[in-house]
Amino acid sequence: MEIIIQPSADAASQIAARHIAKLVREKPHAVLGLATGSTPLGMYRELVRMHREQGLDFSSVTTFNLDEYVGLPAEHPASYHAFMGEHFFSQVNVAPDRIHIPDGTTRHVPAFCQRYEEMIREAGGIDLQVLGIGSDGHIGFNEPSSSLASRTRIKTLTAQTRQDNAPFFGKPEDVPLHVITMGVGTIMDARQILLLAFGEKKAQAIADAVEGPITAMNPASILQMHPVAKCIVDESAAARLKRLDYYRWVYDHKPDWQKL
Ligand code: GLP
Repeated sequence: MEIIIQPSADAASQIAARHIAKLVREKPHAVLGLATGSTPLGMYRELVRMHREQGLDFSSVTTFNLDEYVGLPAEHPASYHAFMGEHFFSQVNVAPDRIHIPDGTTRHVPAFCQRYEEMIREAGGIDLQVLGIGSDGHIGFNEPSSSLASRTRIKTLTAQTRQDNAPFFGKPEDVPLHVITMGVGTIMDARQILLLAFGEKKAQAIADAVEGPITAMNPASILQMHPVAKCIVDESAAARLKRLDYYRWVYDHKPDWQKL
């Protein structure tokens, strides 16, 4: 895994946005795997700015979101449909028929999940998957103990995740119990991964994911097996990494052709 440590979440978000912009310019039909949560907000802001000021064109891009709460209609303000609409899709030119977000209101969850996997395959697979990380190491909504080979399916949230996500709902009991999420295996099939994490609340999860053993108890740790995974963190999220100096050294001494 490549570890990129930046002085602030803003600086890290700009690097993530530049990676995506580079991919979209080189491959206008790119398939992007997108994430929600507070972490990627700065990255979306920067992509919107690039779209407005530099004409970054998303018209041929296809997107697949990681996850959605079961039972929440798209119009619910805490749904991931609403989040993506507000922070990204309403402000750039992704074609509505190329946007895919799991349907939390489907009446046939297993059939829907199977179809979601097929749609990803039919689109040619995900070129770049953006990920945040839960304080317990979850990616998407793959909670600790998720199969590291899992595909899109229903999951039950942990008490910790419901607590973490309570601000969007009011109180933890209002956070839905169930979610539909891409599996860990689905995520691992993406050609490139960008894992973003900011703030001290993520420091232990990042240390375990990057330097700990590969274990279903920290699903993000499987990214150690991904050939092209970048972990972009701010100083606080990097604080518990043991090999900090080495990661900084590597980044500062990249050959010119590898720099963005
Ligand atoms: C939710 C999402 C994850 C996200 C995580 C962290 O659980 N399903 O995709 O990474 O929250 O959220 P935040 O970025 O707000 O810390």
